[in-house]
Amino acid sequence: MKDKITLSSLERMKSAGEKIAVLTAYDAGFARLAESAGVEVILVGDSLGMVVQGHDSTLPVTVQEMVYHTAMVNRGCHRPLLVADMPFMSHGTPRQALDNAGRLMKEGGAHMVKLEGGHAQVETVRHLTDRAVPVCAHLGLLPQSIHQLGGYKVQGRDSHSAERILNEANELQEAGAQMLVLECVPELLATEISLALDIPVIGIGAGRGCDGQVLVLHDMLGITPGKVPSFSRNFMEKENSVENAMRAFVEAVHRGEFPAEEHCFQ
Ligand code: KIV
Repeated sequence: MKDKITLSSLERMKSAGEKIAVLTAYDAGFARLAESAGVEVILVGDSLGMVVQGHDSTLPVTVQEMVYHTAMVNRGCHRPLLVADMPFMSHGTPRQALDNAGRLMKEGGAHMVKLEGGHAQVETVRHLTDRAVPVCAHLGLLPQSIHQLGGYKVQGRDSHSAERILNEANELQEAGAQMLVLECVPELLATEISLALDIPVIGIGAGRGCDGQVLVLHDMLGITPGKVPSFSRNFMEKENSVENAMRAFVEAVHRGEFPAEEHCFQ
C-alpha cells in the first residue's frame, strides 16, 4: 500500500509542480473507491446538505451530521488526507470553532478542517492552528454566505474584490492555514494567488493555475439533480464504472488536462 498522504506530501507536490486531485465523499463506500482511484485528498464537504440530503443550500447541515459522515468516510479509506467542512454557524467564535473542530477530529477522524471566510476568520484560524488543528481556508464563492452574495456567482471579477481576496489569502496563510480552497474566481486571480502562497491552493471553478482541483462527487458522476455547474465535467460519460470515472478525473488533474478552457472563468 502507498504511503499515507500528509500535509508535507501536498507541500512537496506543490513545490514539484505536481497537481493534487481532490474529491468529495460522504460515506465509506465512495471513500474506498476514491482511494483506489488515487485521490490525494478526500473532502467531506457540507455540499452533502445539497447532494445527499436534498436541501437547496448547505446552511441546514449540522456539526453532528458532519461528524457522522466524516466517521463513515474515515472507515472507508486509509491513504488520502481527510478534510472535513465546518458547517454554517459552527465557527462563529474561536472557542466555538475549537469545540466543533475537536469533534470533527476526535469523533470523525478528520485530519484537517475547512472553514469558509476571509478577514473575519483570521483570528479563528490562528486560534485553531495554535492548538494543533490543521485548517484549510476557503475563499471566493462561499456557499454558506449565499443569501449575502445573492446567488452562486463568480467572485473577484472587479479589481477591488480581487485585491481583497488576494489579501485575505495572504492573511489566512499568515494565520496558519495550511491549504486554501478557491471557489469560482477568474483564472488569472486564482493563478496569482497560487503563485503568491506557499500552501497548496485547490481550485473549483478557479482555472488551470491552481495547485490542485476539487470536484463535488455527484457533479463529476453526472448525478446532481438540475443544472451541473459549468466548471465541472461528467467523468461517467466515457467510463463504465464509478471507480473508473474517479480514476479518469485523477489522471486528468495530474496531467493538467482538467480543467480545460471551457471550465474556466475569465
Ligand atoms: O462542500 C463542498 O463540497 C466544498 C467544495 C465545493 C469545495 O466546499
